[in-house]
Amino acid sequence: MNILLLGSGGREHALAWKIAQSPLCSQLFIAPGNAGTAGCGTNIALSITDFPAIRQFCMEQKVGLVLVGPEEPLVKGVVDYFKANPVEGMPVIGPSQYGAQLEGSKAFAKAFMQRHGIPTAAYREFDEQNFEDGLDYIRQHSLPIVLKADGLAAGKGVLILNDTEEALDEFEQMIKASKFGDASKKVVIEQFLSGIELSVFALTDGKSYVLLPEAKDYKRIGEGDAGLNTGGMGAVSPVPFADDAFMKKVIDQVVVPTINGLKEEAIDYKGFVFFGLIKVGNNPYVIEYNCRMGDPETEVVMPRLQSDLVELLVATGKQELAGMEVKHDPRVACTVMAVSGGYPGDYAKGKVISGLDAIGSPDSILFHAGTAIKDGNTVTAGGRVLCVTSYGNSVTDAVSKSKAALEKISFDGMYYRRDIGYEFE
Ligand code: AMP
Ligand code: GLY
Repeated sequence: MNILLLGSGGREHALAWKIAQSPLCSQLFIAPGNAGTAGCGTNIALSITDFPAIRQFCMEQKVGLVLVGPEEPLVKGVVDYFKANPVEGMPVIGPSQYGAQLEGSKAFAKAFMQRHGIPTAAYREFDEQNFEDGLDYIRQHSLPIVLKADGLAAGKGVLILNDTEEALDEFEQMIKASKFGDASKKVVIEQFLSGIELSVFALTDGKSYVLLPEAKDYKRIGEGDAGLNTGGMGAVSPVPFADDAFMKKVIDQVVVPTINGLKEEAIDYKGFVFFGLIKVGNNPYVIEYNCRMGDPETEVVMPRLQSDLVELLVATGKQELAGMEVKHDPRVACTVMAVSGGYPGDYAKGKVISGLDAIGSPDSILFHAGTAIKDGNTVTAGGRVLCVTSYGNSVTDAVSKSKAALEKISFDGMYYRRDIGYEFE
């Protein structure tokens, strides 16, 4: 079958790498892809939000399945578009626009969790209408206090504040001055939870689900988890503290009620559910849902997934996931992300990358993120540029292999964290 994958990041390179290994895949197209995905299939210069052009391409190339990598096309309704304008026999794997609100609207996600008894931080939502109530709510709230823009804000819409005056000021800027544009017209205010975070992934066909390997990502730019938030600087899988007893709680209290909730509410959802969890004491709480896989988590999850991803995706499209078994590689996988100098602030693009062929270890895999080909060279084209995932017997072992590989690669301004997985040494 011919497959089209939408997206261009490290997540998509890892998905493309996995899809290309399947005997069920004849031709893989990636739109628009990056310099790395070009090695797994054919990159196609299509916009991921130009749905009519995507449909035209699928018909011309006899595409049998579309997998959506990032959230943007999902939140903009790509699944609904293809439901209204179907290409015969071709599923588009991802939730409907309504289902994608689990990621696209914090207020929608919180209300969903409340309806289904899913553990999450206590909260209230405010907008222009009840702005004054919001100020009162903040004044009597304990610190730290968490303010979240309701909509998508490029990962910047969450503020954790230790000062009531500052919280009042930020709240006003979000609602009255559209600090995050339309995304902050509505604000969720929630209780601060203290604990350690992890990411759990399910693939659901709307009736049943399978669990993929869990992962932990490292969001801060600096070593020791200091400095600004990024898209993610590295990841490890499995997560050492996510033992069987804890994962049973995650399944019973979070995953099953979520999948059942989608079913009960007749929400059309055939795709990945990303549970952003925090372990408080010994219990899981949901910090956020995403309607797609994580990045860079996918770069460790796909290498640890032994089952055929295409088989799972086809079963998802046909709602035949029930009873399918997912095999996980018992080895540890860690990834370390190399970023452009200045990221997550301003950074330059177009820097030539050298040493890409030098990895040489069968235990390490190079995934491209923000890269492009220019004048025959592979150059930087984003903040997060590339990552190396390695297998190992322990987190330390796998991370040291990735760092050894990254030492052979260079571009002007290259930076990576040398302490990924530091808590687990
Ligand atoms: P989100 O965009 O909802 O994932 O939030 C971004 C980050 O803010 C999360 O990964 C957490 O590190 C942090 N965060 C969000 N909500 C809370 C909360 N209620 N308590 C503590 N930290 C939080
Ligand atoms: N690594 C977190 C995310 O993909 O949202």
